[in-house]
Amino acid sequence: MLALPAALVALWAFNAHAATNDELAKRLEPVGQVCVQGQECKGMAVTATAAAGGARTPDDIIAKHCQACHGPGLLGAPKVGDTAAWKERADHQGGLDGILAKAITGINAMPPKGTCADCSDEDLKAAIQKMSGL
Ligand code: HEC
Repeated sequence: MLALPAALVALWAFNAHAATNDELAKRLEPVGQVCVQGQECKGMAVTATAAAGGARTPDDIIAKHCQACHGPGLLGAPKVGDTAAWKERADHQGGLDGILAKAITGINAMPPKGTCADCSDEDLKAAIQKMSGL
């Protein structure tokens, strides 16, 4: 009973007198459903998105999703700030929208949407502009 939410503790105390174990288990069921890391947990996802306020800056997205590879240039990724490397790619892919399209679908070791599954195209574009300086 260390880290139980107050509501659960109150519910437990309220039921403690008369209820059978079965009855208790049933009443506690909805409260006791715990989100485990790695499992889908819709309620939590909604909360997390709401907490982010929907106003993610390109910096947030880069720090969270792109920096790991594009910071050090991992696996041949064009580095953050290396405008020449990005420009060369853009020139070959038909400009910023061309490399955006590749970022959305993924290309070689570059995962689709750079692992930012809930990023919009605009989010990704802003992140690419920021990383590339284009
Ligand atoms: C797991 C590592 C990894 C992550 C995470 C990652 N990238 Fe990449 N990215 C790469 C690699 C590697 C390439 C080079 C792929 C190639 O051309 O072989 C690349 C290439 C790109 C390109 C150029 C595509 C082209 O047409 O040449 C863009 C744009 C891009 N990444 C955007 C992003 C954005 C935006 C994010 C974050 C939302 C991101 N990447 C996250 C590894 C990553």
